[in-house]
Amino acid sequence: MLRNHDLVFLKHFSMVIGFLVFVTVVLLAFAGYMHTRLPIEANPAREAKIAERIAPLGSVYAGSTGAAAMAAAAEFAKKAAASQVAYGGSLDGSVIFGNLCTGCHTNGVSGAPKLEKSAWATRMSAGVPTLVQHAINGYKGPDGNQMPAKGGNPALTDAQVEATVKWMVGQLK
Ligand code: HEC
Repeated sequence: MLRNHDLVFLKHFSMVIGFLVFVTVVLLAFAGYMHTRLPIEANPAREAKIAERIAPLGSVYAGSTGAAAMAAAAEFAKKAAASQVAYGGSLDGSVIFGNLCTGCHTNGVSGAPKLEKSAWATRMSAGVPTLVQHAINGYKGPDGNQMPAKGGNPALTDAQVEATVKWMVGQLK
């Protein structure tokens, strides 16, 4: 037979329990909500594992032979880049002149002959092949003015310089 104060205790006790259950549910709901709102943190260990799993077979270290092949490929790529010819290898004198030689030859910078017949009369008497050689190798004129070898761009081929000199000579007015 329950006594009266036992009943009161039970009532209060179950109210406290009920309140705690309520708080728990609220906290769970809040945690669940937060979980959907916060960005997912990356787990480096997990990411490394995934990267390992999806890594392409070709990049797996293939022993010293593989390393040598890779070094050779890198070397080849470097060489290919270095041998890139200037102005896409163009033999169009106007293109090369317009990109490089014009810097000095259009306005006569530092004594460079402009594209005027009067400035070239004496030079022409030496013959175009000589002018081409001077343009390829560089040339110091009698007045001490310096024509830099290949106009200062060593990536130009001899053929490109020759084409440009011939184009210049054809432009004299
Ligand atoms: C940094 C300036 C400069 C650039 C760039 C330049 N030149 Fe010249 N060039 C000169 C000068 C200065 C002279 C005159 C040298 C002298 O005879 O006194 C000259 C002279 C020449 C001559 C005559 C050489 C001779 O024997 O009389 C030719 C041909 C020539 N340049 C071609 C070119 C070509 C082609 C280019 C571009 C690929 C070029 N130059 C770019 C400065 C330049």
